[in-house]
Amino acid sequence: MAKSKDRIDAGIKKENKNPNRFKGGVSQIKMGNNDVLFILLGATGDLTKRKLLPAIYHLVNDHKIAHFAIIGVARSPISVGEMLAASKPFVKEINAHTWKKLEAASYYLSLDFYHQNDYHHLKKIADDARSKHHLSGNTVFYFSTLPDHFETITKNIHNSGLAEGKGWSRLVYEKPFGSDLASARRINKSIARFFTEEQVFRIDHYLGKDIVGNLALLRFTNRALEPLWNRNHIESVQILFLESLGIEGRGNFYDKYGALKDVVQNHMLQLLALTAMEAPRQLTGHYIRDEKAKVLNNIIVHNVVRGQYDGYLQEKGVSEHSSTETFTAVHLEVNNKRWKGVPFYLKAGKKLDKKETSIHLRLKSVPCLLPENCPTDSNHITIKIEPHSSFALELFARVPGKTLEIIPMTMEFSQPIFTLKSAEAYEILLEEVIKGEQSLFVRNDEIEQSWKIMEAIEKIKTKVYTYAPGSKGPQELKLLEKEHIKWRG
Ligand code: BG6
Repeated sequence: MAKSKDRIDAGIKKENKNPNRFKGGVSQIKMGNNDVLFILLGATGDLTKRKLLPAIYHLVNDHKIAHFAIIGVARSPISVGEMLAASKPFVKEINAHTWKKLEAASYYLSLDFYHQNDYHHLKKIADDARSKHHLSGNTVFYFSTLPDHFETITKNIHNSGLAEGKGWSRLVYEKPFGSDLASARRINKSIARFFTEEQVFRIDHYLGKDIVGNLALLRFTNRALEPLWNRNHIESVQILFLESLGIEGRGNFYDKYGALKDVVQNHMLQLLALTAMEAPRQLTGHYIRDEKAKVLNNIIVHNVVRGQYDGYLQEKGVSEHSSTETFTAVHLEVNNKRWKGVPFYLKAGKKLDKKETSIHLRLKSVPCLLPENCPTDSNHITIKIEPHSSFALELFARVPGKTLEIIPMTMEFSQPIFTLKSAEAYEILLEEVIKGEQSLFVRNDEIEQSWKIMEAIEKIKTKVYTYAPGSKGPQELKLLEKEHIKWRG
Protein backbone atom coordinates (compact mmCIF):
# COMPACT_ATOMS: atom_id res chain seq x y z
CA MET A 1 0.00 0.00 0.00
CA ALA A 2 2.67 2.49 0.71
CA LYS A 3 5.01 3.72 -1.82
CA SER A 4 7.07 2.82 -4.65
CA LYS A 5 8.98 5.05 -6.94
CA ASP A 6 5.74 6.39 -8.39
CA ARG A 7 6.07 10.06 -9.10
CA ILE A 8 3.60 12.75 -8.76
CA ASP A 9 2.70 13.19 -12.44
CA ALA A 10 2.22 9.50 -12.90
CA GLY A 11 -0.61 9.93 -10.43
CA ILE A 12 -2.30 12.53 -12.60
CA LYS A 13 -2.21 10.42 -15.68
CA LYS A 14 -3.44 7.31 -13.95
CA GLU A 15 -6.54 8.97 -12.56
CA ASN A 16 -9.68 6.95 -12.71
CA LYS A 17 -12.05 8.80 -15.03
CA ASN A 18 -15.10 7.52 -13.25
CA PRO A 19 -18.26 9.05 -14.72
CA ASN A 20 -20.08 9.10 -11.40
CA ARG A 21 -17.86 11.70 -9.86
CA PHE A 22 -18.46 15.33 -9.03
CA LYS A 23 -21.93 15.08 -7.71
CA GLY A 24 -21.30 17.51 -4.88
CA GLY A 25 -20.19 14.54 -2.84
CA VAL A 26 -23.51 12.72 -3.08
CA SER A 27 -21.80 9.87 -4.75
CA GLN A 28 -23.44 6.97 -6.51
CA ILE A 29 -20.57 4.67 -5.65
CA LYS A 30 -21.15 2.20 -2.87
CA MET A 31 -18.58 2.28 -0.14
CA GLY A 32 -16.26 -0.65 -0.38
CA ASN A 33 -14.41 -0.88 2.91
CA ASN A 34 -16.51 0.93 5.39
CA ASP A 35 -14.28 0.46 8.38
CA VAL A 36 -11.57 2.93 9.12
CA LEU A 37 -9.03 4.13 11.65
CA PHE A 38 -8.70 7.92 11.73
CA ILE A 39 -5.36 9.26 12.92
CA LEU A 40 -5.87 12.98 13.47
CA LEU A 41 -2.52 14.77 13.50
CA GLY A 42 -2.82 18.14 15.21
CA ALA A 43 -5.78 16.99 17.30
CA THR A 44 -5.78 19.88 19.75
CA GLY A 45 -6.37 22.42 16.99
CA ASP A 46 -9.50 24.25 16.00
CA LEU A 47 -10.19 22.13 12.95
CA THR A 48 -10.35 18.82 14.85
CA LYS A 49 -12.62 20.36 17.44
CA ARG A 50 -14.98 22.28 15.16
CA LYS A 51 -15.05 20.18 12.01
CA LEU A 52 -13.30 16.81 11.99
CA LEU A 53 -14.69 15.14 15.12
CA PRO A 54 -18.22 16.44 14.36
CA ALA A 55 -17.88 15.15 10.78
CA ILE A 56 -16.79 11.68 12.01
CA TYR A 57 -19.64 11.71 14.54
CA HIS A 58 -22.15 12.32 11.72
CA LEU A 59 -20.64 9.63 9.51
CA VAL A 60 -21.09 7.16 12.37
CA ASN A 61 -24.55 8.43 13.25
CA ASP A 62 -25.65 8.15 9.61
CA HIS A 63 -24.26 4.57 9.46
CA LYS A 64 -21.78 5.52 6.76
CA ILE A 65 -19.03 3.76 8.64
CA ALA A 66 -19.65 0.58 10.50
CA HIS A 67 -16.42 0.06 12.46
CA PHE A 68 -14.01 2.80 13.33
CA ALA A 69 -11.52 4.17 15.83
CA ILE A 70 -10.02 7.62 16.25
CA ILE A 71 -6.55 8.42 17.53
CA GLY A 72 -5.98 12.09 18.22
CA VAL A 73 -2.32 13.08 18.15
CA ALA A 74 -0.69 16.36 19.13
CA ARG A 75 2.08 17.66 21.32
CA SER A 76 -0.03 18.83 24.31
CA PRO A 77 -0.58 16.31 27.12
CA ILE A 78 -4.39 16.36 27.20
CA SER A 79 -6.72 13.43 27.84
CA VAL A 80 -8.99 11.83 25.28
CA GLY A 81 -11.94 13.09 27.35
CA GLU A 82 -10.68 16.65 26.96
CA MET A 83 -10.29 16.22 23.21
CA LEU A 84 -13.87 14.99 22.86
CA ALA A 85 -15.37 17.50 25.30
CA ALA A 86 -13.86 20.37 23.29
CA SER A 87 -15.63 19.12 20.20
CA LYS A 88 -19.02 18.24 21.71
CA PRO A 89 -20.50 21.78 21.48
CA PHE A 90 -19.89 21.69 17.71
CA VAL A 91 -21.90 18.53 17.09
CA LYS A 92 -25.45 19.21 15.96
CA GLU A 93 -28.23 17.25 17.70
CA ILE A 94 -26.27 14.71 19.72
CA ASN A 95 -27.59 11.18 19.85
CA ALA A 96 -26.35 9.83 23.20
CA HIS A 97 -25.87 6.32 21.82
CA THR A 98 -23.66 7.52 18.92
CA TRP A 99 -21.66 9.77 21.22
CA LYS A 100 -20.98 6.80 23.51
CA LYS A 101 -19.73 4.84 20.51
CA LEU A 102 -17.39 7.70 19.69
CA GLU A 103 -16.10 7.79 23.28
CA ALA A 104 -15.51 4.06 23.30
CA ALA A 105 -13.47 4.19 20.09
CA SER A 106 -11.35 7.29 20.72
CA TYR A 107 -7.77 7.58 21.92
CA TYR A 108 -5.32 10.39 22.37
CA LEU A 109 -1.54 10.35 22.28
CA SER A 110 0.81 13.18 23.10
CA LEU A 111 3.55 12.96 20.50
CA ASP A 112 6.47 15.00 19.25
CA PHE A 113 6.17 15.07 15.47
CA TYR A 114 9.97 15.13 15.21
CA HIS A 115 10.67 12.05 17.37
CA GLN A 116 10.70 8.90 15.31
CA ASN A 117 10.34 6.82 18.49
CA ASP A 118 7.00 8.39 19.31
CA TYR A 119 5.64 6.99 16.06
CA HIS A 120 6.45 3.46 17.21
CA HIS A 121 4.32 4.16 20.23
CA LEU A 122 1.58 5.45 17.94
CA LYS A 123 1.85 2.29 15.86
CA LYS A 124 1.32 0.15 18.93
CA ILE A 125 -1.85 2.11 19.84
CA ALA A 126 -3.02 1.90 16.22
CA ASP A 127 -2.48 -1.87 16.08
CA ASP A 128 -4.32 -2.37 19.38
CA ALA A 129 -7.22 -0.18 18.22
CA ARG A 130 -7.42 -2.06 14.91
CA SER A 131 -7.71 -5.37 16.67
CA LYS A 132 -10.05 -4.21 19.45
CA HIS A 133 -12.48 -2.50 17.03
CA HIS A 134 -12.31 -5.17 14.28
CA LEU A 135 -10.72 -2.91 11.72
CA SER A 136 -9.24 -4.28 8.52
CA GLY A 137 -6.30 -1.87 8.40
CA ASN A 138 -7.81 1.00 6.39
CA THR A 139 -6.32 4.20 7.76
CA VAL A 140 -6.88 7.90 7.17
CA PHE A 141 -3.98 10.10 8.31
CA TYR A 142 -5.41 13.60 8.59
CA PHE A 143 -2.76 16.35 8.69
CA SER A 144 -4.28 19.39 10.35
CA THR A 145 -0.93 20.77 11.40
CA LEU A 146 0.98 23.71 9.96
CA PRO A 147 2.41 22.76 6.55
CA ASP A 148 5.95 23.15 7.98
CA HIS A 149 5.46 19.74 9.61
CA PHE A 150 4.00 17.90 6.59
CA GLU A 151 7.30 16.54 5.27
CA THR A 152 8.62 15.26 8.61
CA ILE A 153 5.35 13.65 9.65
CA THR A 154 4.91 12.01 6.25
CA LYS A 155 8.42 10.56 6.41
CA ASN A 156 7.98 9.35 9.99
CA ILE A 157 4.64 7.72 9.22
CA HIS A 158 6.30 5.87 6.40
CA ASN A 159 9.47 4.91 8.27
CA SER A 160 7.65 3.67 11.35
CA GLY A 161 5.57 1.26 9.27
CA LEU A 162 2.33 2.91 10.36
CA ALA A 163 1.02 2.77 6.81
CA GLU A 164 2.07 -0.83 6.23
CA GLY A 165 -0.07 -3.90 6.55
CA LYS A 166 -3.52 -4.83 5.34
CA GLY A 167 -6.06 -2.33 4.01
CA TRP A 168 -5.41 1.07 2.46
CA SER A 169 -3.65 4.13 3.84
CA ARG A 170 -4.68 7.61 2.69
CA LEU A 171 -3.10 10.91 3.64
CA VAL A 172 -5.26 14.01 3.87
CA TYR A 173 -3.45 17.36 3.95
CA GLU A 174 -5.35 20.36 5.24
CA LYS A 175 -4.78 23.68 3.56
CA PRO A 176 -2.61 25.70 3.26
CA PHE A 177 -0.50 23.24 1.32
CA GLY A 178 2.85 24.95 1.76
CA SER A 179 3.52 28.61 2.27
CA ASP A 180 4.89 29.43 -1.17
CA LEU A 181 5.70 27.76 -4.46
CA ALA A 182 9.05 26.37 -3.30
CA SER A 183 7.62 24.79 -0.14
CA ALA A 184 4.58 23.35 -1.99
CA ARG A 185 6.92 21.77 -4.53
CA ARG A 186 9.15 20.43 -1.79
CA ILE A 187 6.20 18.92 0.07
CA ASN A 188 4.77 17.37 -3.10
CA LYS A 189 8.15 15.90 -3.90
CA SER A 190 8.79 14.47 -0.49
CA ILE A 191 5.30 12.92 -0.24
CA ALA A 192 5.92 11.31 -3.62
CA ARG A 193 9.06 9.63 -2.24
CA PHE A 194 6.94 7.59 0.14
CA PHE A 195 3.38 7.45 -1.16
CA THR A 196 1.58 7.42 -4.49
CA GLU A 197 -0.54 10.33 -5.73
CA GLU A 198 -3.62 8.08 -5.38
CA GLN A 199 -3.04 8.04 -1.62
CA VAL A 200 -2.89 11.84 -1.34
CA PHE A 201 -5.92 14.06 -0.68
CA ARG A 202 -5.28 17.84 -0.57
CA ILE A 203 -8.27 19.45 1.07
CA ASP A 204 -10.03 22.61 0.02
CA HIS A 205 -13.23 22.48 2.01
CA TYR A 206 -14.99 24.81 -0.45
CA LEU A 207 -15.00 21.92 -2.94
CA GLY A 208 -17.11 19.96 -0.49
CA LYS A 209 -19.84 22.60 -0.44
CA ASP A 210 -22.99 21.60 -2.23
CA ILE A 211 -23.44 24.61 -4.47
CA VAL A 212 -19.79 24.63 -5.47
CA GLY A 213 -20.28 21.06 -6.69
CA ASN A 214 -23.30 22.39 -8.59
CA LEU A 215 -21.49 25.20 -10.36
CA ALA A 216 -20.22 23.24 -13.34
CA LEU A 217 -23.58 21.55 -13.72
CA LEU A 218 -25.41 24.88 -13.71
CA ARG A 219 -23.08 26.26 -16.35
CA PHE A 220 -22.96 23.40 -18.75
CA THR A 221 -26.40 21.85 -18.53
CA ASN A 222 -28.38 25.07 -19.05
CA ARG A 223 -28.87 26.50 -22.50
CA ALA A 224 -30.06 29.69 -20.79
CA LEU A 225 -26.58 30.20 -19.30
CA GLU A 226 -23.96 28.39 -21.33
CA PRO A 227 -23.95 30.65 -24.45
CA LEU A 228 -23.60 33.78 -22.27
CA TRP A 229 -20.59 32.58 -20.31
CA ASN A 230 -17.78 34.35 -22.20
CA ARG A 231 -16.18 37.69 -23.11
CA ASN A 232 -18.88 38.50 -25.68
CA HIS A 233 -21.53 38.79 -22.98
CA ILE A 234 -19.80 39.09 -19.62
CA GLU A 235 -18.31 42.44 -18.71
CA SER A 236 -16.62 41.48 -15.43
CA VAL A 237 -16.61 38.84 -12.72
CA GLN A 238 -16.42 39.40 -8.98
CA ILE A 239 -15.61 36.77 -6.40
CA LEU A 240 -16.19 37.89 -2.83
CA PHE A 241 -14.97 36.22 0.34
CA LEU A 242 -16.17 38.57 3.05
CA GLU A 243 -16.05 37.67 6.72
CA SER A 244 -17.37 39.55 9.72
CA LEU A 245 -15.26 37.49 12.16
CA GLY A 246 -11.65 38.35 12.85
CA ILE A 247 -8.79 35.89 13.23
CA GLU A 248 -10.46 34.09 16.16
CA GLY A 249 -7.37 33.40 18.24
CA ARG A 250 -5.39 32.07 15.26
CA GLY A 251 -2.83 34.89 15.38
CA ASN A 252 0.21 32.60 15.28
CA PHE A 253 -0.98 31.01 12.06
CA TYR A 254 -2.66 33.96 10.40
CA ASP A 255 0.17 36.42 10.87
CA LYS A 256 2.44 34.19 8.77
CA TYR A 257 -0.14 33.79 6.01
CA GLY A 258 -2.57 36.70 5.68
CA ALA A 259 -5.69 36.88 3.52
CA LEU A 260 -3.92 36.10 0.25
CA LYS A 261 -2.45 32.80 1.42
CA ASP A 262 -5.34 31.94 3.75
CA VAL A 263 -8.23 32.15 1.30
CA VAL A 264 -7.19 33.53 -2.12
CA GLN A 265 -4.53 30.93 -2.98
CA ASN A 266 -6.98 28.13 -2.35
CA HIS A 267 -10.75 28.72 -1.98
CA MET A 268 -10.98 31.78 -4.21
CA LEU A 269 -8.77 30.51 -7.00
CA GLN A 270 -10.71 27.25 -6.98
CA LEU A 271 -13.96 29.22 -7.34
CA LEU A 272 -12.41 31.27 -10.12
CA ALA A 273 -11.21 28.14 -11.90
CA LEU A 274 -14.67 26.54 -11.71
CA THR A 275 -16.27 29.76 -12.99
CA ALA A 276 -13.86 30.25 -15.87
CA MET A 277 -12.98 26.74 -17.05
CA GLU A 278 -13.83 25.37 -20.48
CA ALA A 279 -16.41 22.62 -20.80
CA PRO A 280 -14.75 19.41 -19.64
CA ARG A 281 -14.94 16.38 -21.90
CA GLN A 282 -17.44 15.00 -19.41
CA LEU A 283 -18.99 16.68 -16.41
CA THR A 284 -17.08 14.50 -14.03
CA GLY A 285 -14.49 15.22 -11.42
CA HIS A 286 -11.25 14.25 -13.09
CA TYR A 287 -12.01 15.99 -16.36
CA ILE A 288 -13.02 19.03 -14.35
CA ARG A 289 -9.65 19.00 -12.56
CA ASP A 290 -7.91 19.03 -15.95
CA GLU A 291 -9.89 22.10 -17.01
CA LYS A 292 -9.38 23.91 -13.71
CA ALA A 293 -5.64 23.41 -13.99
CA LYS A 294 -5.65 24.99 -17.47
CA VAL A 295 -7.37 28.13 -16.13
CA LEU A 296 -4.87 28.47 -13.29
CA ASN A 297 -2.10 28.12 -15.82
CA ASN A 298 -3.41 31.13 -17.76
CA ILE A 299 -3.87 33.81 -15.12
CA ILE A 300 -2.42 37.30 -15.48
CA VAL A 301 -2.18 39.44 -12.35
CA HIS A 302 -2.95 43.13 -12.91
CA ASN A 303 -3.32 44.85 -9.57
CA VAL A 304 -3.72 44.34 -5.83
CA VAL A 305 -4.85 46.33 -2.81
CA ARG A 306 -3.96 45.24 0.73
CA GLY A 307 -5.55 46.25 4.02
CA GLN A 308 -5.32 45.49 7.74
CA TYR A 309 -8.12 46.06 10.24
CA ASP A 310 -7.60 48.52 13.00
CA GLY A 311 -6.77 46.53 16.14
CA TYR A 312 -5.12 43.59 14.33
CA LEU A 313 -1.73 44.40 15.84
CA GLN A 314 -3.16 43.91 19.32
CA GLU A 315 -4.40 40.37 18.55
CA LYS A 316 -2.71 37.51 20.40
CA GLY A 317 0.08 35.89 18.38
CA VAL A 318 0.43 38.81 15.96
CA SER A 319 3.79 40.54 15.80
CA GLU A 320 3.85 44.13 17.01
CA HIS A 321 4.75 45.68 13.65
CA SER A 322 3.10 43.12 11.41
CA SER A 323 2.26 44.19 7.87
CA THR A 324 0.23 41.03 7.19
CA GLU A 325 -2.90 41.83 5.20
CA THR A 326 -6.31 40.89 6.64
CA PHE A 327 -7.96 42.27 3.51
CA THR A 328 -7.14 42.09 -0.16
CA ALA A 329 -8.66 42.94 -3.49
CA VAL A 330 -7.03 41.61 -6.63
CA HIS A 331 -7.59 42.21 -10.32
CA LEU A 332 -6.82 39.15 -12.43
CA GLU A 333 -7.40 38.14 -16.02
CA VAL A 334 -7.80 34.73 -17.59
CA ASN A 335 -5.68 34.93 -20.68
CA ASN A 336 -7.58 32.75 -23.12
CA LYS A 337 -10.03 33.07 -25.98
CA ARG A 338 -13.08 32.86 -23.75
CA TRP A 339 -12.06 35.53 -21.22
CA LYS A 340 -9.40 37.81 -22.72
CA GLY A 341 -10.05 41.37 -21.50
CA VAL A 342 -12.67 40.46 -18.87
CA PRO A 343 -11.55 41.60 -15.40
CA PHE A 344 -11.89 39.10 -12.55
CA TYR A 345 -11.99 41.00 -9.26
CA LEU A 346 -11.41 39.05 -6.06
CA LYS A 347 -12.09 40.65 -2.70
CA ALA A 348 -11.48 38.99 0.67
CA GLY A 349 -11.23 40.23 4.20
CA LYS A 350 -11.70 39.66 7.90
CA LYS A 351 -13.79 41.91 10.20
CA LEU A 352 -15.86 43.34 7.39
CA ASP A 353 -19.50 44.39 7.56
CA LYS A 354 -20.87 40.92 6.73
CA LYS A 355 -20.18 37.26 6.03
CA GLU A 356 -20.66 36.42 2.37
CA THR A 357 -18.93 34.23 -0.17
CA SER A 358 -20.33 34.79 -3.65
CA ILE A 359 -19.61 34.93 -7.36
CA HIS A 360 -21.10 37.67 -9.55
CA LEU A 361 -21.04 37.76 -13.33
CA ARG A 362 -21.93 41.17 -14.67
CA LEU A 363 -23.35 41.00 -18.16
CA LYS A 364 -22.71 43.69 -20.78
CA SER A 365 -25.45 46.27 -21.21
CA VAL A 366 -27.88 46.19 -24.09
CA PRO A 367 -28.45 49.44 -26.01
CA CYS A 368 -31.14 51.42 -24.19
CA LEU A 369 -34.23 51.99 -26.29
CA LEU A 370 -36.08 53.97 -23.64
CA PRO A 371 -36.41 57.73 -24.03
CA GLU A 372 -35.48 58.15 -20.34
CA ASN A 373 -34.87 56.12 -17.15
CA CYS A 374 -32.33 53.85 -18.80
CA PRO A 375 -31.00 51.29 -16.31
CA THR A 376 -27.68 52.44 -14.87
CA ASP A 377 -26.57 48.90 -14.06
CA SER A 378 -26.76 45.73 -16.12
CA ASN A 379 -27.89 42.14 -15.59
CA HIS A 380 -26.08 39.90 -13.13
CA ILE A 381 -25.81 36.19 -12.58
CA THR A 382 -25.05 35.59 -8.90
CA ILE A 383 -24.05 32.42 -7.11
CA LYS A 384 -24.06 32.70 -3.34
CA ILE A 385 -22.18 30.10 -1.36
CA GLU A 386 -22.07 31.43 2.20
CA PRO A 387 -23.83 31.96 4.54
CA HIS A 388 -26.76 30.62 2.45
CA SER A 389 -26.58 29.05 -0.96
CA SER A 390 -28.54 30.48 -3.85
CA PHE A 391 -28.42 31.08 -7.55
CA ALA A 392 -29.93 34.30 -8.89
CA LEU A 393 -30.57 36.13 -12.14
CA GLU A 394 -30.99 39.87 -11.94
CA LEU A 395 -33.13 41.17 -14.80
CA PHE A 396 -34.86 44.46 -15.53
CA ALA A 397 -38.61 44.87 -15.64
CA ARG A 398 -41.15 47.62 -15.55
CA VAL A 399 -42.60 48.79 -12.24
CA PRO A 400 -46.19 47.50 -12.26
CA GLY A 401 -48.64 50.14 -13.37
CA LYS A 402 -46.04 52.72 -14.33
CA THR A 403 -45.24 52.99 -17.94
CA LEU A 404 -41.50 53.42 -18.23
CA GLU A 405 -39.93 53.00 -14.85
CA ILE A 406 -37.47 50.12 -14.94
CA ILE A 407 -36.20 48.32 -11.86
CA PRO A 408 -33.93 45.30 -11.29
CA MET A 409 -35.85 42.16 -10.35
CA THR A 410 -34.16 39.13 -8.87
CA MET A 411 -35.14 35.61 -9.81
CA GLU A 412 -33.62 33.55 -7.04
CA PHE A 413 -33.42 29.81 -6.56
CA SER A 414 -32.44 29.57 -3.00
CA GLN A 415 -31.29 27.34 -0.24
CA PRO A 416 -33.62 24.34 -0.21
CA ILE A 417 -32.67 23.32 -3.74
CA PHE A 418 -28.98 23.47 -3.05
CA THR A 419 -28.85 22.13 0.46
CA LEU A 420 -31.16 19.24 -0.12
CA LYS A 421 -29.38 16.16 1.21
CA SER A 422 -26.32 18.31 1.73
CA ALA A 423 -23.95 17.55 4.53
CA GLU A 424 -21.29 19.65 6.11
CA ALA A 425 -18.38 19.99 3.69
CA TYR A 426 -15.97 18.02 5.90
CA GLU A 427 -18.38 15.13 6.23
CA ILE A 428 -18.71 14.92 2.46
CA LEU A 429 -14.95 15.17 2.00
CA LEU A 430 -14.13 12.51 4.59
CA GLU A 431 -16.67 10.24 2.96
CA GLU A 432 -14.91 10.75 -0.36
CA VAL A 433 -11.54 9.92 1.22
CA ILE A 434 -12.94 6.68 2.59
CA LYS A 435 -14.21 5.81 -0.88
CA GLY A 436 -10.83 6.69 -2.39
CA GLU A 437 -12.37 9.31 -4.68
CA GLN A 438 -10.07 12.25 -5.36
CA SER A 439 -12.34 14.39 -7.52
CA LEU A 440 -13.15 16.91 -4.82
CA PHE A 441 -9.50 17.33 -3.83
CA VAL A 442 -6.91 19.60 -5.32
CA ARG A 443 -4.31 18.05 -7.58
CA ASN A 444 -0.59 18.74 -7.20
CA ASP A 445 -0.38 20.79 -10.42
CA GLU A 446 -3.34 22.98 -9.38
CA ILE A 447 -1.63 23.69 -6.05
CA GLU A 448 1.67 24.62 -7.64
CA GLN A 449 -0.03 26.81 -10.23
CA SER A 450 -1.95 28.68 -7.51
CA TRP A 451 1.30 29.39 -5.67
CA LYS A 452 2.77 30.78 -8.89
CA ILE A 453 -0.15 33.23 -9.02
CA MET A 454 0.59 34.20 -5.42
CA GLU A 455 4.20 34.89 -6.37
CA ALA A 456 3.06 37.21 -9.15
CA ILE A 457 0.76 39.05 -6.71
CA GLU A 458 3.55 39.36 -4.16
CA LYS A 459 5.76 41.06 -6.72
CA ILE A 460 3.34 44.00 -6.73
CA LYS A 461 4.53 45.95 -3.72
CA THR A 462 1.81 48.10 -2.18
CA LYS A 463 1.12 49.76 1.13
CA VAL A 464 -1.09 47.99 3.65
CA TYR A 465 -4.00 50.38 4.33
CA THR A 466 -5.84 50.39 7.64
CA TYR A 467 -9.61 49.89 7.70
CA ALA A 468 -12.22 50.08 10.41
CA PRO A 469 -13.65 46.79 11.72
CA GLY A 470 -17.21 46.37 10.47
CA SER A 471 -16.54 48.41 7.32
CA LYS A 472 -16.28 47.40 3.65
CA GLY A 473 -12.48 47.54 3.70
CA PRO A 474 -9.97 50.34 3.23
CA GLN A 475 -10.91 53.57 1.45
CA GLU A 476 -8.02 52.91 -0.91
CA LEU A 477 -10.13 50.29 -2.66
CA LYS A 478 -10.64 53.26 -4.96
CA LEU A 479 -7.29 52.27 -6.44
CA LEU A 480 -9.15 49.49 -8.17
CA GLU A 481 -12.38 51.41 -8.50
CA LYS A 482 -10.90 53.81 -10.97
CA GLU A 483 -11.22 50.77 -13.19
CA HIS A 484 -15.02 51.21 -12.85
CA ILE A 485 -15.82 48.43 -10.44
CA LYS A 486 -19.12 48.49 -8.68
CA TRP A 487 -18.55 46.14 -5.76
CA ARG A 488 -21.43 43.78 -5.09
CA GLY A 489 -20.66 43.49 -1.41
C1 BG6 B 1 -10.64 28.74 6.13
C2 BG6 B 1 -9.80 29.94 6.49
O1 BG6 B 1 -10.01 27.98 5.15
O2 BG6 B 1 -11.90 29.20 5.63
C3 BG6 B 1 -10.51 30.81 7.52
O3 BG6 B 1 -8.56 29.49 7.02
C4 BG6 B 1 -11.90 31.18 7.01
O4 BG6 B 1 -9.76 31.98 7.79
C5 BG6 B 1 -12.66 29.94 6.59
O5 BG6 B 1 -12.57 31.83 8.08
C6 BG6 B 1 -14.00 30.30 5.96
O6 BG6 B 1 -14.70 29.12 5.68
P1 BG6 B 1 -16.31 29.10 5.63
O7 BG6 B 1 -16.64 27.72 5.21
O8 BG6 B 1 -16.77 29.44 7.02
O9 BG6 B 1 -16.72 30.16 4.67
